[in-house]
Amino acid sequence: MALTWSRFAAAPATRDSAPRQLRAIVGQFREVLTRVLPKKGIALEIGSGTGEHVICFATALPGLVWLPSDPDSASRASIKAWSATEGLANVRAPIAIDVREGVWGVEDDAPFDAMISLNMVHITPWEAALGLLAGAGRLLRPDGILFLYGPSCWAAHIRRRSMPPSTQT
Ligand SMILES: C[S@@+](CC[C@H](N)C(=O)[O-])C[C@H]1O[C@@H](n2cnc3c(N)ncnc32)[C@H](O)[C@@H]1O
Repeated sequence: MALTWSRFAAAPATRDSAPRQLRAIVGQFREVLTRVLPKKGIALEIGSGTGEHVICFATALPGLVWLPSDPDSASRASIKAWSATEGLANVRAPIAIDVREGVWGVEDDAPFDAMISLNMVHITPWEAALGLLAGAGRLLRPDGILFLYGPSCWAAHIRRRSMPPSTQT
């Protein structure tokens, strides 16, 4: 598997675009997540990356216990470092989850009240998207929330917009 984010250091890492992105989207995320996610319970984050997002979400939703994960060891080290820096009681130690696996190692914590994955599906092979959905089916409560974010677009919409106006219906 090619992991594209292995350059993270053991210290709290920040992606080059993270501060700009965070400023732009965290306010909106906070509003949306506090509206759609349960106020308490346990939330599993997939592909947490540096860990900056989970820190923001754990601050915004202190009643939820957050379980970050990433298959990349350097990312997990960064998540740990961010957690230590912020000292949030509701962020658990990160674990290694590759969504393409049939067992994620968090089965004892299931069912989850929410699962969240930001900017993961669009950079990974299609099998990762399928694995994520299969894992959500196995490990989310029946009324649990799966929250996905990323630069995605429906193929039909792309086709329509790229066709000359005369051919659009
Ligand atoms: C673009 S980064 C996004 C990180 C973070 N969620 C963010 O929005 O800044 C994608 C993350 O997905 C993780 N990833 C890649 N393949 C994965 C897989 N098969 N299962 C779970 N996570 C994966 C990478 O290690 C990386 O941290």
